[in-house]
Amino acid sequence: MRTFDDLDVKGRRVLVRADLNVPLDGETITDDGRIRASVPTIRTLADRGAKVVVCAHLGRPKGQVKPEFSLKPVAVRLSELLGRDVAFATDVVGDSASATVGGLRDGEVALLENLRFEPGEESKDDALRGGFAARLAALADLYVGDGFGAVHRKHASVYDVPKLLPHAAGKLIVAEVEVLKRLTEATERPYVVVLGGAKVSDKLGVIANLLTKVDRLLIGGGMAYTFLKAQGHEVGGSLLQEDQLDEVRGFLNEAAKRGVDLVLPVDVLAATHFAKDAPHDVVDATAIPADRQGLDIGPRTRELFAGKVADARTIFWNGPMGVFEFDAFAGGTKAVAEALIASGAFTVVGGGDSAAAVRRLGLPEDGFSHISTGGGASLEYLEGKTLPGLAALEE
Ligand code: 3PG
Ligand code: MG
Repeated sequence: MRTFDDLDVKGRRVLVRADLNVPLDGETITDDGRIRASVPTIRTLADRGAKVVVCAHLGRPKGQVKPEFSLKPVAVRLSELLGRDVAFATDVVGDSASATVGGLRDGEVALLENLRFEPGEESKDDALRGGFAARLAALADLYVGDGFGAVHRKHASVYDVPKLLPHAAGKLIVAEVEVLKRLTEATERPYVVVLGGAKVSDKLGVIANLLTKVDRLLIGGGMAYTFLKAQGHEVGGSLLQEDQLDEVRGFLNEAAKRGVDLVLPVDVLAATHFAKDAPHDVVDATAIPADRQGLDIGPRTRELFAGKVADARTIFWNGPMGVFEFDAFAGGTKAVAEALIASGAFTVVGGGDSAAAVRRLGLPEDGFSHISTGGGASLEYLEGKTLPGLAALEE
């Protein structure tokens, strides 16, 4: 992949596709990790005298203008982090965008409104997507792809625009890909992967591929209950994906055949209902009462998992171990994160909820070797898929 060191950016309009998809509570950004991760590329381009036009998506407005998905609060935060003005265009490729970009002087930065307000951005119709991509490309002379969290999406701003402009990868994408390479090529062993999160159906592809690569696979979070059920245990009212039971039985067999140590919870915090103050007890994972639901891994599982990562040389972690948004059920996720930090291994936290959990639980971000900004993207990379946004930058 070309980096933008290979592009002469001075005085040129550079369209930067960033991933600024941050969680919002009203207009308050509750985790600005992705904005901070986007700053180095934007700042460097501005320092080199580019007219920097940043584009990004927020949430899933599905091709409609929905004010609650405006990037305006993100423009404010980006400006604070950069320590310089960020001009905000109130549309994506309309009059405001043209005027805002037209008004930029060398070294200045603008942010366009949410790309997903435009139906062309995510369209499966190549012509529709291409039409929108052409309008976006018309706003710039060069393209820098830096939205790692969205590289698994075949969207206009990710996939089509780099075909229309001289292009290069930004610093974030280069850094993320370097790390993922260490997880897929000449990985230092023992290689341990910890997976959590609600749904096993989101992780089928990656589990299948990881079973051919890892020494140990630790499963927690909501998805663990489908594994426990597949082993023949009752899981009460816990999250369960009945339609995935066959698939999961296949994984259990495959792990046994390959000698992969697939580790499931041995105890859970079983709550009366899904609430932050729900009464709960520690119960064996094989004896969850019918009227209870597991909302976190229990103390023996925390110790078991910690032991399984202690001697690892490489660890990838994606997905919380419990409902970490509720303090009472955050302990499992915290314990696993602490065990990763203590391991001294090359530790990678894969995006989304797990990255947010690290920050919410007050854990030191520099305790990990790398915290990815892309959950879905890093999983698809580890699954061995071709990511449209990376392929487009490589061409
Ligand atoms: C993400 O948050 O997963 C990325 O920003 C991509 O967003 P998406 O999952 O809505 O495509
Ligand atoms: Mg996603």
